Amino acid sequence: MAMLSRVTYSRVVAQLSRTFVISLRTLHGGDRKGCLRIRPTTADDYDGVVSIRDDINRGFDYIPGTYHELLKYNTGYGGFIDSNLVAFLFGAVIDDGRTIAMQSGRVKRGYEGQGITSEMKEHCLMNLSKTATKSVIVISSQNTYNCLIEKNVQLLCKMERLAFSASRQSLYGQCSTRGETSCLKRADSDFMKNLFLDPKTTSVMFPGNRIVIRGTPYDLVTSNIDRIMCCSDQILVSRRRDTDGVNFMSITSTWRCNTTTVLYINLFGERADESIISQHVHMQIARILSSCEENIVLYVTSVMQHHLETIKRVLEKHSWIYLEGLTLFAIEKSFRNL
Ligand SMILES: CC(C)(COP(=O)(O)OP(=O)(O)OC[C@H]1O[C@@H](n2cnc3c(N)ncnc32)[C@H](O)[C@@H]1OP(=O)(O)O)[C@@H](O)C(=O)NCCC(=O)NCCS
Repeated sequence: MAMLSRVTYSRVVAQLSRTFVISLRTLHGGDRKGCLRIRPTTADDYDGVVSIRDDINRGFDYIPGTYHELLKYNTGYGGFIDSNLVAFLFGAVIDDGRTIAMQSGRVKRGYEGQGITSEMKEHCLMNLSKTATKSVIVISSQNTYNCLIEKNVQLLCKMERLAFSASRQSLYGQCSTRGETSCLKRADSDFMKNLFLDPKTTSVMFPGNRIVIRGTPYDLVTSNIDRIMCCSDQILVSRRRDTDGVNFMSITSTWRCNTTTVLYINLFGERADESIISQHVHMQIARILSSCEENIVLYVTSVMQHHLETIKRVLEKHSWIYLEGLTLFAIEKSFRNL
């Protein structure tokens, strides 16, 4: 059998993959962005929206479990070609009307790379608000971030997200809500309002003066609090012993995906030892334990690099299996000249 040289082999592979991409586009009608029709989605579009992709977040996509809930305080945009829903995006006006937050963007396989997401974003920016002058989005792709940063976008903050899994059975006896009275308190919207109005504390807790929750970076303005409370199942705070000021906070949201419960914990605070992180994580988990599925996936997000090793150590000690780490980039882009 004739042997191919390494160079010839690479050329053949490159040619074949080009042909494959062209065939895919031809199969789906070539560049069909021009045929894209965009309209707001409703509850009735649920089946279409959840069928767009099944590979998001390692299969633990939050959309199937939270689409209806998110639709209450976001506008869903569906992109249709020949009456098929091929793309989706959530948009919302936040920060006293100054900003459009976009999230949950997705495009059906075979329709990617044709500018459909760019068009969906553009549509959302032009239609959602007359006052907003900037948009925000959180992305998890380093390559996309590298491309965007060359296009005049601003990095608001960078976060690390660690993923773990565990079975419900293995966690029994390890998480308790007993610590609540002594160390941790639940925060309500009045508490959050006072916190946002205290720049000395917020500058330490939230670098860049943003709080990123469920894929949305918010300015620390009190008008965002209702929305933040709606997106959060439980907010816990711990206080400094000496001054009684807040020094650490965890905000959780939960959703179901097939036979798995997904718990998302955002941690905020500059200094935290193993015991503080442990109390927060365990109390957040304890709240869901009696009602969750047997499989649990946990995401823990922090902007503080130095917390990551502690988080891993705490969770691995308590039966959690570390799956992967991912960097998230919260970015802002101006889109209207003032
Ligand atoms: C990421 C994805 C939505 C891109 O869709 P696409 O139609 O191929 O994108 P386009 O051809 O329009 O490419 C460029 C646009 O997509 C954006 N984009 C590309 N990758 C992205 C990513 N991982 N996250 C967010 N936006 C992304 C680019 O910023 C660009 O938008 P801009 O014009 O505002 O700069 C699509 O590949 C997809 O569905 N992937 C799986 C789901 C996913 O990872 N979603 C991101 C979560 S926000």
